[in-house]
Amino acid sequence: MKKSHRSVVRRSITPENMGRPLSPPLASSVMYHYENVSQMQSLHDNEIEGFTYARDGHPNGAALADKLSWMEGAKVGVMTASGMSAITAAFLSVLRKGDSIAAASQLYGRSLKLVSDELPRLGFETRFFDASDPATFADSITPDTRIVLAEIVSNPMLRVTQFEALAAAAKKADALLLVDNTFTTPNGFNPLAHGADLVMHSVTKMLSGHSDLNLGYLGGNDPELMAGIDDVIATMGFNASPYSCWLAERGLNTFDLRFRQAQENAKKLADLLEKHPMVGKVHFPGLESHSDHALAKKLLPKGFGTMVSFVLKGDRTQADAFLTAAENIPYGPTLGDVATIVVMPAFSSHRKLPREERLAIGIEDNLIRVSLGIEDFELIERDFSDALDQAALTLGAVDVQDSQPG
Ligand SMILES: Cc1ncc(COP(=O)(O)O)c(C=O)c1O
Repeated sequence: MKKSHRSVVRRSITPENMGRPLSPPLASSVMYHYENVSQMQSLHDNEIEGFTYARDGHPNGAALADKLSWMEGAKVGVMTASGMSAITAAFLSVLRKGDSIAAASQLYGRSLKLVSDELPRLGFETRFFDASDPATFADSITPDTRIVLAEIVSNPMLRVTQFEALAAAAKKADALLLVDNTFTTPNGFNPLAHGADLVMHSVTKMLSGHSDLNLGYLGGNDPELMAGIDDVIATMGFNASPYSCWLAERGLNTFDLRFRQAQENAKKLADLLEKHPMVGKVHFPGLESHSDHALAKKLLPKGFGTMVSFVLKGDRTQADAFLTAAENIPYGPTLGDVATIVVMPAFSSHRKLPREERLAIGIEDNLIRVSLGIEDFELIERDFSDALDQAALTLGAVDVQDSQPG
């Protein structure tokens, strides 16, 4: 910049002779400028690569989407502001007047709200199926179904989806299969390799791993489908912030290690809980007692995941005693953090569901969902054992074996 032209609002130009940074720089710029209109036209004509306006894309988003696409085996990937905006973008880009939706009856609470309230409000009918029972697929997935939404392992009951049959039913109806792979992660299962058309992640969770950002990812192998989604993201403003992408890419470096450790902790905790007299029932696909254990072994050969749910005997008194005593284990509605976190779905994600409906899908009042962190298991063991013992004390004279049959 010429000295006479200096002003605090004049943009400085990044020197070209910088050494290359080892860690990816954060590019927070909203705009990317070009030497002239011809250069920018070359970008629009895909002759050169680059960015113009951050709502349409930015370096941190592109770098993160590339890595996630590599992990999921997707040809194209896009980032969005949250997991929910990724799911919404997929629906809004493919649905046309007259289309209907098919969805698993057990989904993350907001996903359930999207398909049971918000999209029907716009005129799209949703029909539900039980993802672990293929006999229910044919009635819900029909020729007017445009898109099918399912998770691989359901929240919070950890039921395993009959994936092969589901992919076949979607294909038969010529419907797109969108898989929320958040719980399972790309290290557990790759839906695109098994017949899904779209895979999504709440990158907020295990992939970024530190509970300090909201982010979503959508990947697919059909460039036209993905271009339509990309357009919806930019038009409806579902775009991801560069800062969140930058932070998530940093978190992703340790994902493999975190996943391995959390998965080991989950298995050990499930074993511990199954033996404890204060525990009525343990839901973990890695346990032989789990109704989908055989399917889980086939579908998830790399492990059974990082989540465990269990029913604490007693009622709210015991639940409160357990949670208060488990002071090192935060109570709250997220998962996939470096720290172990617990939540009671009946009072968080599924609190708006009528009690009878909630019980019908197995979510008992005292169901506690655990998202395993990467702590040494001895710490987790001590915290859970102490908290279960404290909860047992509040039962007084009641024999915990008889208090509530799970
Ligand atoms: C399985 C699953 N899918 C989607 C979401 C939504 O993600 P986000 O909170 O990033 O919008 C969540 C959030 O908890 C989730 O658990």
